[in-house]
Amino acid sequence: MKPLIYAHRGASAYAPENTMAAFYEAEKRGADGIELDVQMTKDGVLVVLHDEDVARTSNGRGLAREMTLSQLRELDFGSWFGPAWAGEKIPTLWQVLEFLQGNRLRLNIELKTCSAWYDPELTRRTVAMVQQSGLKDRVIFSSFEHRCLLDAKEMDPSIPAGLLYVGNLIGPGRYARSLGMEYIHPCWDNLDEKGVADCRENGIEIHPWTINDAVSRDAMLRVGAEHLITNYPDILER
Ligand code: G3P
Ligand code: MG
Repeated sequence: MKPLIYAHRGASAYAPENTMAAFYEAEKRGADGIELDVQMTKDGVLVVLHDEDVARTSNGRGLAREMTLSQLRELDFGSWFGPAWAGEKIPTLWQVLEFLQGNRLRLNIELKTCSAWYDPELTRRTVAMVQQSGLKDRVIFSSFEHRCLLDAKEMDPSIPAGLLYVGNLIGPGRYARSLGMEYIHPCWDNLDEKGVADCRENGIEIHPWTINDAVSRDAMLRVGAEHLITNYPDILER
């Protein structure tokens, strides 16, 4: 069966990652869904951003969690990618959920945190916002911080979730099932045959990243991965 295509940070090969421009581009290029990273600002707003520090993808610097939304809104998150995107703003999660009201895109929300600075409010507010949006049946969660996925499950077990990881886990399917998760989200080249078989035995879907070329695409098609997370929404035609 054909996998679902999730545009990684939006169509990030074609527009600046994690911006509305990248999400519009994903829709235009026929993606089934988008993947994005969520963090919380100093004043408790959920924003869409990958790095902890804004320096790589904006004209500012500093940790997003130590800045307010209005401080972040002053920054340009487009120019680093190209002059055509100058003035692109950081999106809030709510803004993206509103965009999704007008289309059929699915959404993979990656809770971007780690144990050293994990604030359970990030999970609590994200789950509450997804519930409020009425889009629950099109949303899945993922995180490298598996504890926060347990918290999300406790709040709303009906929202599916996938474990992000790097490295070759022994028994990834068994591990995911033991935590009550539905999916694994591995770095694609960490999967071996045993891992795939273990997922199949345990009823766990496989959603690898980042599938940006023919080698990774064909390997993951052979595995029967259910989702491909890619910077190129047109990856199946490339
Ligand atoms: O969700 C897949 C992928 O986004 C995980 O890694 O660092 O790109 O957020 P990263
Ligand atoms: Mg991500």
